[in-house]
Amino acid sequence: MKYLNLVWLIAFSIISNLSKAQESIKTDLLQNIQGRNTTSLNGMWEIIVDPLENGYYNHRYKAKPDGYFINKKMESPSDLIEYDFDSDWQISVPGDWNTQFDKLYYYEGTVWYKRDFHFNGNSDEAAYLYFEAVNYEATVYLNGEKLGTHVGGYTPFQFDVSGKLKEGENFVVVKVDNKRKREAVPTINTDWWNYGGITRSVHLITVPKKHIFDYSIQLANNNPDLIEGWVTVKNGKEGEEVAISIPELKKSVTAKLTDGKASFSIKAKPVLWSPSNPKLYEVNLSLGNERITDRIGFRTIKTEGAKIVLNGKPVFLKGISIHEEAPFKTGRVVSVEECRILLTWAKELGCNFIRLAHYPHNEAMVREAEKMGFLIWSEIPVYWTVLFDNESTYANAENQLKEMISRDKNRAAVILWSVANETPEGEPRLKFLTQLATKARELDDSRLITAALDTQGSREGAKFIEDPLGKVVDVIGINNYCGWYAGAPGDCADIKWATDYNKPMIMSEVGGGALYGLHGEKNERWTEEYQADVYKNNIEMMRNIDFLAGASPWILMDFRSARRHLRRIQGDFNRKGLISEQGMKKQAFYILQDYYLNENN
Ligand code: GCU
Repeated sequence: MKYLNLVWLIAFSIISNLSKAQESIKTDLLQNIQGRNTTSLNGMWEIIVDPLENGYYNHRYKAKPDGYFINKKMESPSDLIEYDFDSDWQISVPGDWNTQFDKLYYYEGTVWYKRDFHFNGNSDEAAYLYFEAVNYEATVYLNGEKLGTHVGGYTPFQFDVSGKLKEGENFVVVKVDNKRKREAVPTINTDWWNYGGITRSVHLITVPKKHIFDYSIQLANNNPDLIEGWVTVKNGKEGEEVAISIPELKKSVTAKLTDGKASFSIKAKPVLWSPSNPKLYEVNLSLGNERITDRIGFRTIKTEGAKIVLNGKPVFLKGISIHEEAPFKTGRVVSVEECRILLTWAKELGCNFIRLAHYPHNEAMVREAEKMGFLIWSEIPVYWTVLFDNESTYANAENQLKEMISRDKNRAAVILWSVANETPEGEPRLKFLTQLATKARELDDSRLITAALDTQGSREGAKFIEDPLGKVVDVIGINNYCGWYAGAPGDCADIKWATDYNKPMIMSEVGGGALYGLHGEKNERWTEEYQADVYKNNIEMMRNIDFLAGASPWILMDFRSARRHLRRIQGDFNRKGLISEQGMKKQAFYILQDYYLNENN
């Protein structure tokens, strides 16, 4: 046995050195996985709940060469193996563990996931293992070999597994750790539930060895008559041609590869995408015998003074904030049907805009919102008091920004990238967020940059927007809870706002809480009447802000938060929803609906 251990140790040291090199195989993101040849790895996975990370560290707290990731099986009846995925718990993927197991409701720590799968693809193809999201840190192993680690709970990541898949049976193991950390993004405290797990879908994607990898296709900045784009190709040859066609526009061009990238422009007059006409075009990209199709909208977006201008016309963003909390079953949204329910409620509310708070939502939500005609604010979870003077925190935030932009850069509906929510003023924070905003513009100079601020001052009796971050962003989000966290609802209607920034403001959060079905006088906290009065007075206030370009009140639906302890009212739910998590509309829903449907803004 000792000899075998020695062999293992030698093998592990070789593998671990190799895998350090392998870690670099975590690649940028393949664009448009829906348009690829994917095998779903969703379904039941085996799990081992491992709060002491015994599956990874030995009793000297050193990484084990034979951790749970090798999925060891007994070979003789005397073997000592103190774990066995196949006789342990099973969990549904995608999905958080908190709402699938009562014992894991509050669990924060490591859970090992294992999935067996059969592969009979041909080995001259390329293959990627693609995770739409894992909260919060995922270390992925294929057939016992470490592929790499991803940090960040709300953005996709993938590993190139070309040549690593066995003909026949394979297994993937993922070490998921959702422990909150001070240096993480988000940091240790948030007002939403820390749902852990493989919370979004997992795909095995096979593509030709030479394949279209990434692309960007959209109207040239504010030129509705010119479509511009680029395509990157893996394993292509210099000068090889990529073909791009938009049949409905009767347009088809080719572009030559230079260093793996082909750029192109197409003169065209597409019908522009807008909330009232969410027109999407079939766009085909082909290279050799590979052809992928996407559905892409074309529109222009910019600001002119305090106006947001869509397709050359000012637009007022009639919005609502949404968390990725599933209606009815609660927990993380896991299906496109749940996305459609939330979006249908927003449509009923009279919205043309949604703020996907406080992290990138799943891709299905963005694509469905685009089909239904919602303009979108998408954000990374740089929330409250992240460690602004910590380099690894910045690198993490920037990586999540890159992954968010990479995934959704072809979604015309997305008009705003937000880099922060309610971050306290200070030099390190201003430097951190300015750097993020600069990076966002570098990655995508076609969209507007914003942030939600709760740092207003006052001037001559008016609320005054003086946060220096206002200089950096294109659009200023303001979170203000008059009538809830400060003042009585009746105080709000007469509040005036002032700013020195000649920029649009969005009331990115406003509102108050109510327990659905609790009724009383409008001065009684938690009644629907109180919440309705908060909305009535804040709407009156918003009517008088002449540089207001929109609102996304907080929030469409009650959502779970570990900060909300008033058992008789909250029971772990933030009750600021206009709709309960069971789909029951509160009085305030109709107050806001009336404003959106009947205001001629
Ligand atoms: C803040 C914060 C939200 C939070 C809300 C509240 O503005 O941005 O994440 O849920 O207030 O207190 O309900």
